[in-house]
Amino acid sequence: MTVVVQAGKKYRLPTQNHSGGWSGGTCGGQIGWKTTMSDEIEFVTIAKVGQLEEGEGTAVAVKERMVALFRQNDQYFAIDDFCPHMGASLASGYLENGVVTCPWHAWRFCIHDGKWCDNPKISIDSFPVRVVNDEIQVQVRPKRAS
Ligand code: FES
Repeated sequence: MTVVVQAGKKYRLPTQNHSGGWSGGTCGGQIGWKTTMSDEIEFVTIAKVGQLEEGEGTAVAVKERMVALFRQNDQYFAIDDFCPHMGASLASGYLENGVVTCPWHAWRFCIHDGKWCDNPKISIDSFPVRVVNDEIQVQVRPKRAS
């Protein structure tokens, strides 16, 4: 099986929340992965421990998808990088308490499970992450057909 992995472009997160009035909070997601990913989908190394600073995100191309990888409290989380509103890179959003705020129009997503915080019935994809030795690996499934 051929796997295409490109080095991700690293973004600095903005220092202020763009939502104007939202004071933060946590998402409803739980630490850890709780969906039924197939064991047949392999984990792919996308970064090394130490490449991503605490509280930052980075976008990485994996299997024809863009994945936003975040580090928070020395744990790693991965969600779809494309904001479903107008396609901004969520990896460059503001991260606080498990929630990333889109840098363009401030939609907020839980980095644990991809839920849209303003309407948890809607979610973007999230992916299992593991650390093996010093490699950060994600298990990325193909994009859902729409
Ligand atoms: S592009 Fe993300 S909220 Fe508009």
